[in-house]
Amino acid sequence: MAEKILAGENKVLRHGISGRLVHWIVALSSFVLIFSGFGQMPIYRRYGVANLPGLGWSGDYSVTLVIHYLAAMVLLFGAVYHLVFHLTRREFDLLPRRGDLRDSYLIIKAMVTKGTPPPSDKYLAEQRLAYAFIAFNLLALIITGILKVLKNLPGIWYTETTLVWVTGLHNLATFLLVFGIIGHLAAFLFKENRPLLPGIFTGKVSLDYVRERHSLWLDRLISR
Ligand code: HEM
Ligand code: HEM
Repeated sequence: MAEKILAGENKVLRHGISGRLVHWIVALSSFVLIFSGFGQMPIYRRYGVANLPGLGWSGDYSVTLVIHYLAAMVLLFGAVYHLVFHLTRREFDLLPRRGDLRDSYLIIKAMVTKGTPPPSDKYLAEQRLAYAFIAFNLLALIITGILKVLKNLPGIWYTETTLVWVTGLHNLATFLLVFGIIGHLAAFLFKENRPLLPGIFTGKVSLDYVRERHSLWLDRLISR
Protein backbone atom coordinates (compact mmCIF):
# COMPACT_ATOMS: atom_id res chain seq x y z
CA MET A 1 0.00 0.00 0.00
CA ALA A 2 1.49 3.34 -1.10
CA GLU A 3 -0.08 5.54 1.58
CA LYS A 4 2.07 6.48 4.57
CA ILE A 5 2.85 9.27 7.01
CA LEU A 6 5.86 11.38 5.98
CA ALA A 7 6.53 12.86 9.41
CA GLY A 8 9.72 14.66 8.31
CA GLU A 9 7.80 16.62 5.66
CA ASN A 10 4.67 17.05 7.82
CA LYS A 11 2.73 15.38 5.00
CA VAL A 12 0.87 12.16 4.22
CA LEU A 13 1.38 10.22 1.00
CA ARG A 14 -2.26 9.85 -0.07
CA HIS A 15 -2.09 8.62 -3.67
CA GLY A 16 0.58 6.38 -5.20
CA ILE A 17 1.63 6.80 -8.81
CA SER A 18 -0.96 4.25 -10.02
CA GLY A 19 -3.92 6.10 -8.52
CA ARG A 20 -2.78 9.44 -9.88
CA LEU A 21 -2.13 8.00 -13.31
CA VAL A 22 -5.58 6.39 -13.45
CA HIS A 23 -7.25 9.63 -12.31
CA TRP A 24 -5.63 11.64 -15.10
CA ILE A 25 -6.06 8.94 -17.76
CA VAL A 26 -9.80 8.77 -16.95
CA ALA A 27 -10.19 12.55 -16.58
CA LEU A 28 -8.38 13.50 -19.80
CA SER A 29 -9.96 10.74 -21.89
CA SER A 30 -13.38 11.76 -20.53
CA PHE A 31 -12.84 15.38 -21.56
CA VAL A 32 -11.82 14.24 -25.07
CA LEU A 33 -14.78 11.81 -25.25
CA ILE A 34 -17.23 14.54 -24.24
CA PHE A 35 -15.83 16.99 -26.81
CA SER A 36 -15.59 14.45 -29.65
CA GLY A 37 -18.99 12.92 -28.74
CA PHE A 38 -20.72 16.27 -29.00
CA GLY A 39 -18.87 16.72 -32.31
CA GLN A 40 -20.90 13.82 -33.73
CA MET A 41 -24.09 15.75 -33.22
CA PRO A 42 -23.25 18.34 -35.86
CA ILE A 43 -23.23 21.27 -33.47
CA TYR A 44 -19.69 22.58 -33.90
CA ARG A 45 -20.26 23.56 -37.55
CA ARG A 46 -23.70 24.92 -36.72
CA TYR A 47 -22.57 27.05 -33.78
CA GLY A 48 -19.32 28.25 -35.30
CA VAL A 49 -16.84 26.28 -33.16
CA ALA A 50 -15.45 24.84 -36.41
CA ASN A 51 -14.76 28.39 -37.64
CA LEU A 52 -12.40 29.12 -34.75
CA PRO A 53 -8.73 29.12 -35.72
CA GLY A 54 -7.24 25.62 -35.45
CA LEU A 55 -10.62 23.96 -34.76
CA GLY A 56 -11.78 23.37 -38.36
CA TRP A 57 -11.50 19.60 -37.85
CA SER A 58 -14.08 19.66 -35.05
CA GLY A 59 -16.90 19.96 -37.62
CA ASP A 60 -15.72 16.88 -39.54
CA TYR A 61 -17.62 13.79 -38.37
CA SER A 62 -15.00 11.34 -39.68
CA VAL A 63 -12.32 13.09 -37.59
CA THR A 64 -14.29 13.39 -34.35
CA LEU A 65 -15.34 9.73 -34.69
CA VAL A 66 -11.70 8.55 -34.89
CA ILE A 67 -10.80 10.78 -31.91
CA HIS A 68 -13.78 9.32 -30.00
CA TYR A 69 -12.58 5.77 -30.73
CA LEU A 70 -8.97 6.52 -29.68
CA ALA A 71 -10.06 8.22 -26.43
CA ALA A 72 -12.47 5.31 -25.75
CA MET A 73 -9.50 2.91 -25.91
CA VAL A 74 -7.59 5.07 -23.42
CA LEU A 75 -10.61 5.22 -21.07
CA LEU A 76 -11.07 1.44 -21.30
CA PHE A 77 -7.42 0.89 -20.45
CA GLY A 78 -7.72 3.20 -17.42
CA ALA A 79 -10.95 1.54 -16.21
CA VAL A 80 -9.65 -2.04 -16.55
CA TYR A 81 -6.31 -1.16 -14.93
CA HIS A 82 -8.15 0.55 -12.04
CA LEU A 83 -10.40 -2.49 -11.45
CA VAL A 84 -7.60 -5.07 -11.63
CA PHE A 85 -5.28 -2.97 -9.44
CA HIS A 86 -7.72 -2.41 -6.59
CA LEU A 87 -9.46 -5.79 -6.74
CA THR A 88 -6.17 -7.70 -6.52
CA ARG A 89 -4.98 -5.47 -3.67
CA ARG A 90 -8.42 -5.61 -2.01
CA GLU A 91 -8.59 -1.81 -1.58
CA PHE A 92 -12.18 -0.65 -1.29
CA ASP A 93 -11.81 2.76 0.44
CA LEU A 94 -13.81 4.57 -2.28
CA LEU A 95 -16.89 2.31 -2.21
CA PRO A 96 -20.02 3.84 -0.60
CA ARG A 97 -20.90 2.73 2.92
CA ARG A 98 -24.08 2.65 4.98
CA GLY A 99 -24.87 6.14 6.32
CA ASP A 100 -22.92 8.02 3.61
CA LEU A 101 -25.94 10.13 2.62
CA ARG A 102 -26.43 11.31 6.20
CA ASP A 103 -22.70 11.90 6.75
CA SER A 104 -22.46 13.85 3.46
CA TYR A 105 -25.22 16.10 4.72
CA LEU A 106 -23.41 16.59 8.07
CA ILE A 107 -20.04 17.32 6.37
CA ILE A 108 -21.56 19.84 3.95
CA LYS A 109 -23.59 21.41 6.78
CA ALA A 110 -20.37 21.79 8.80
CA MET A 111 -18.67 23.50 5.82
CA VAL A 112 -21.54 25.96 5.40
CA THR A 113 -22.11 26.71 9.10
CA LYS A 114 -18.38 26.46 10.05
CA GLY A 115 -19.33 23.72 12.52
CA THR A 116 -17.49 20.50 13.40
CA PRO A 117 -17.82 17.71 10.81
CA PRO A 118 -17.99 14.01 11.77
CA PRO A 119 -14.54 12.33 11.62
CA SER A 120 -13.79 10.86 8.17
CA ASP A 121 -11.86 7.88 6.91
CA LYS A 122 -9.50 8.23 3.90
CA TYR A 123 -12.36 9.63 1.80
CA LEU A 124 -15.27 11.84 2.83
CA ALA A 125 -18.73 10.27 2.60
CA GLU A 126 -19.64 12.52 -0.37
CA GLN A 127 -16.45 11.50 -2.20
CA ARG A 128 -17.50 7.84 -1.96
CA LEU A 129 -20.92 8.76 -3.35
CA ALA A 130 -19.33 10.89 -6.10
CA TYR A 131 -17.06 7.99 -7.04
CA ALA A 132 -20.01 5.58 -7.31
CA PHE A 133 -21.98 8.08 -9.40
CA ILE A 134 -19.12 8.82 -11.82
CA ALA A 135 -18.04 5.16 -12.07
CA PHE A 136 -21.61 4.01 -12.74
CA ASN A 137 -22.04 6.52 -15.56
CA LEU A 138 -18.65 5.68 -17.07
CA LEU A 139 -19.57 1.98 -16.99
CA ALA A 140 -22.89 2.74 -18.72
CA LEU A 141 -20.99 4.78 -21.35
CA ILE A 142 -18.49 1.98 -21.91
CA ILE A 143 -21.17 -0.73 -22.29
CA THR A 144 -23.45 1.34 -24.57
CA GLY A 145 -20.35 2.66 -26.40
CA ILE A 146 -19.18 -0.88 -27.20
CA LEU A 147 -22.69 -1.69 -28.46
CA LYS A 148 -22.51 1.41 -30.70
CA VAL A 149 -19.10 0.34 -32.05
CA LEU A 150 -20.52 -3.12 -32.89
CA LYS A 151 -23.44 -1.46 -34.70
CA ASN A 152 -20.94 0.41 -36.90
CA LEU A 153 -19.33 -2.88 -38.01
CA PRO A 154 -20.48 -4.37 -41.30
CA GLY A 155 -23.05 -7.15 -40.96
CA ILE A 156 -24.41 -6.06 -37.55
CA TRP A 157 -27.88 -4.54 -37.38
CA TYR A 158 -30.03 -3.62 -34.38
CA THR A 159 -33.78 -3.20 -34.32
CA GLU A 160 -35.08 0.38 -34.21
CA THR A 161 -36.02 -0.03 -30.51
CA THR A 162 -32.55 -1.32 -29.51
CA LEU A 163 -30.94 1.54 -31.39
CA VAL A 164 -33.10 4.14 -29.63
CA TRP A 165 -32.30 2.60 -26.23
CA VAL A 166 -28.55 2.31 -26.78
CA THR A 167 -28.25 5.87 -28.13
CA GLY A 168 -30.61 7.24 -25.48
CA LEU A 169 -28.67 5.62 -22.62
CA HIS A 170 -25.30 6.74 -24.07
CA ASN A 171 -26.61 10.30 -24.25
CA LEU A 172 -28.27 10.19 -20.81
CA ALA A 173 -25.05 8.88 -19.20
CA THR A 174 -23.11 11.65 -20.99
CA PHE A 175 -25.41 14.26 -19.51
CA LEU A 176 -25.15 12.76 -16.01
CA LEU A 177 -21.35 12.47 -16.28
CA VAL A 178 -21.01 16.15 -17.25
CA PHE A 179 -23.25 16.98 -14.28
CA GLY A 180 -21.05 14.79 -12.02
CA ILE A 181 -17.82 16.39 -13.24
CA ILE A 182 -19.20 19.89 -12.66
CA GLY A 183 -20.14 18.82 -9.12
CA HIS A 184 -16.69 17.24 -8.63
CA LEU A 185 -14.90 20.44 -9.65
CA ALA A 186 -17.36 22.67 -7.74
CA ALA A 187 -16.34 20.82 -4.55
CA PHE A 188 -13.01 22.67 -4.75
CA LEU A 189 -14.76 26.04 -4.56
CA PHE A 190 -15.03 25.22 -0.86
CA LYS A 191 -11.85 26.20 0.95
CA GLU A 192 -12.21 23.14 3.23
CA ASN A 193 -11.69 20.74 0.30
CA ARG A 194 -8.72 22.49 -1.30
CA PRO A 195 -5.98 20.77 0.74
CA LEU A 196 -6.90 17.64 -1.29
CA LEU A 197 -5.84 19.30 -4.57
CA PRO A 198 -2.04 18.86 -4.34
CA GLY A 199 -2.60 15.15 -3.61
CA ILE A 200 -3.82 14.36 -7.11
CA PHE A 201 -0.68 15.94 -8.62
CA THR A 202 2.13 15.13 -6.17
CA GLY A 203 0.44 12.36 -4.16
CA LYS A 204 1.01 14.26 -0.89
CA VAL A 205 -1.39 16.20 1.37
CA SER A 206 -0.71 18.09 4.57
CA LEU A 207 -0.54 16.04 7.78
CA ASP A 208 -2.35 18.80 9.70
CA TYR A 209 -5.25 18.59 7.25
CA VAL A 210 -5.45 14.80 7.65
CA ARG A 211 -5.28 15.10 11.45
CA GLU A 212 -8.16 17.56 11.43
CA ARG A 213 -10.51 16.02 8.88
CA HIS A 214 -9.54 12.38 8.20
CA SER A 215 -8.79 11.27 11.76
CA LEU A 216 -10.18 7.74 11.20
CA TRP A 217 -7.72 7.30 8.32
CA LEU A 218 -4.85 8.71 10.38
CA ASP A 219 -5.66 6.25 13.20
CA ARG A 220 -5.47 3.40 10.68
CA LEU A 221 -2.16 4.68 9.28
CA ILE A 222 -0.66 4.95 12.78
CA SER A 223 -1.85 1.52 13.95
CA ARG A 224 -0.53 -0.31 10.84
C1 HEM B 1 -9.19 19.55 -13.93
C2 HEM B 1 -9.87 18.51 -13.60
C3 HEM B 1 -9.83 17.74 -12.30
C4 HEM B 1 -9.25 18.04 -11.08
C5 HEM B 1 -8.44 19.26 -10.69
C6 HEM B 1 -9.55 16.93 -10.19
C7 HEM B 1 -9.14 16.83 -8.88
C8 HEM B 1 -9.32 15.74 -8.07
C9 HEM B 1 -8.74 15.56 -6.76
C10 HEM B 1 -7.87 16.58 -6.05
C11 HEM B 1 -9.12 14.35 -6.30
C12 HEM B 1 -8.63 13.65 -5.05
C13 HEM B 1 -9.39 13.86 -3.83
C14 HEM B 1 -8.77 13.06 -2.72
O1 HEM B 1 -7.54 12.98 -2.61
O2 HEM B 1 -9.53 12.56 -1.91
C15 HEM B 1 -9.98 13.75 -7.29
C16 HEM B 1 -10.62 12.54 -7.15
C17 HEM B 1 -11.50 12.02 -8.08
N1 HEM B 1 -11.71 12.50 -9.36
FE1 HEM B 1 -11.01 14.23 -10.11
N2 HEM B 1 -10.32 16.01 -10.87
C18 HEM B 1 -10.51 16.47 -12.15
C19 HEM B 1 -11.21 15.85 -13.16
C20 HEM B 1 -11.92 14.67 -13.01
C21 HEM B 1 -12.76 14.07 -14.04
C22 HEM B 1 -12.98 14.64 -15.45
C23 HEM B 1 -13.29 12.94 -13.51
C24 HEM B 1 -14.23 11.94 -14.11
C25 HEM B 1 -14.37 11.67 -15.36
C26 HEM B 1 -12.79 12.83 -12.14
C27 HEM B 1 -13.11 11.81 -11.27
C28 HEM B 1 -12.64 11.69 -9.98
C29 HEM B 1 -13.07 10.65 -9.06
C30 HEM B 1 -14.11 9.56 -9.36
C31 HEM B 1 -12.37 10.86 -7.87
C32 HEM B 1 -12.49 10.06 -6.57
C33 HEM B 1 -13.69 10.51 -5.80
C34 HEM B 1 -13.56 11.90 -5.25
O3 HEM B 1 -12.52 12.21 -4.67
O4 HEM B 1 -14.51 12.69 -5.39
N3 HEM B 1 -11.96 13.90 -11.88
N4 HEM B 1 -10.07 14.62 -8.37
C1 HEM C 1 -16.82 9.62 -21.13
C2 HEM C 1 -17.29 8.72 -21.95
C3 HEM C 1 -18.10 9.02 -23.20
C4 HEM C 1 -18.85 10.12 -23.53
C5 HEM C 1 -19.09 11.38 -22.69
C6 HEM C 1 -19.44 9.87 -24.84
C7 HEM C 1 -20.29 10.73 -25.52
C8 HEM C 1 -20.84 10.50 -26.77
C9 HEM C 1 -21.76 11.37 -27.45
C10 HEM C 1 -22.28 12.70 -26.89
C11 HEM C 1 -22.04 10.80 -28.66
C12 HEM C 1 -22.90 11.41 -29.75
C13 HEM C 1 -24.33 11.04 -29.68
C14 HEM C 1 -24.65 9.77 -30.37
O1 HEM C 1 -24.29 9.59 -31.54
O2 HEM C 1 -25.27 8.94 -29.71
C15 HEM C 1 -21.32 9.56 -28.74
C16 HEM C 1 -21.37 8.68 -29.80
C17 HEM C 1 -20.68 7.49 -29.84
N1 HEM C 1 -19.87 6.95 -28.86
FE1 HEM C 1 -19.46 7.80 -27.09
N2 HEM C 1 -19.03 8.64 -25.27
C18 HEM C 1 -18.21 8.08 -24.30
C19 HEM C 1 -17.59 6.86 -24.32
C20 HEM C 1 -17.64 5.98 -25.39
C21 HEM C 1 -16.98 4.72 -25.41
C22 HEM C 1 -16.15 4.15 -24.23
C23 HEM C 1 -17.22 4.16 -26.62
C24 HEM C 1 -16.77 2.84 -27.18
C25 HEM C 1 -16.29 1.85 -26.50
C26 HEM C 1 -18.05 5.08 -27.37
C27 HEM C 1 -18.54 4.89 -28.65
C28 HEM C 1 -19.38 5.74 -29.33
C29 HEM C 1 -19.88 5.49 -30.66
C30 HEM C 1 -19.57 4.28 -31.52
C31 HEM C 1 -20.69 6.58 -30.98
C32 HEM C 1 -21.52 6.79 -32.25
C33 HEM C 1 -20.78 7.02 -33.46
C34 HEM C 1 -21.76 6.97 -34.59
O3 HEM C 1 -22.00 5.87 -35.06
O4 HEM C 1 -22.29 8.01 -34.98
N3 HEM C 1 -18.29 6.20 -26.58
N4 HEM C 1 -20.60 9.41 -27.57
